[in-house]
Amino acid sequence: MNKIGRGAYTKYDDKDSKMPIGTTVAKPSFVVQPTGKVALGPLFLMEKMTRGFNAATANWRYAMVMPGGKLFGMTGSKNSAGLKFCHDCHVGGEDNDYMLFLPEEVRK
Ligand code: HEC
Repeated sequence: MNKIGRGAYTKYDDKDSKMPIGTTVAKPSFVVQPTGKVALGPLFLMEKMTRGFNAATANWRYAMVMPGGKLFGMTGSKNSAGLKFCHDCHVGGEDNDYMLFLPEEVRK
């Protein structure tokens, strides 16, 4: 989380959060294979753009970077349609500007 969004995000207010324009969140991930081996997963990114960027995603720009560095897609750019599933799931956080927040046990 960059400095712009940190204050709003870490309130974990699940009723009335508004993330400021310029908020950028990066979420790394890993996958555990059936053999137990752990491998690098995609990097998930969300950036709050200015009004008018994309009403369908409440002006969030989603991006996914594959392990190895290849861009899988980005809202309003490469493979935009392929990233529709991001917002489709993040609508669960509609009341908090589509943030789904860290699990409670790891919040500070
Ligand atoms: C099946 C549901 C689902 C889909 C699809 C999904 N996410 Fe999320 N996302 C979550 C949940 C749940 C969290 C909060 C818990 C966590 O961080 O793991 C989250 C958290 C995030 C965060 C951290 C900010 C926050 O909301 O707390 C980012 C950034 C993010 N997702 C980006 C993406 C991107 C980019 C895509 C598409 C490539 C995507 N997500 C697709 C469920 C989803």
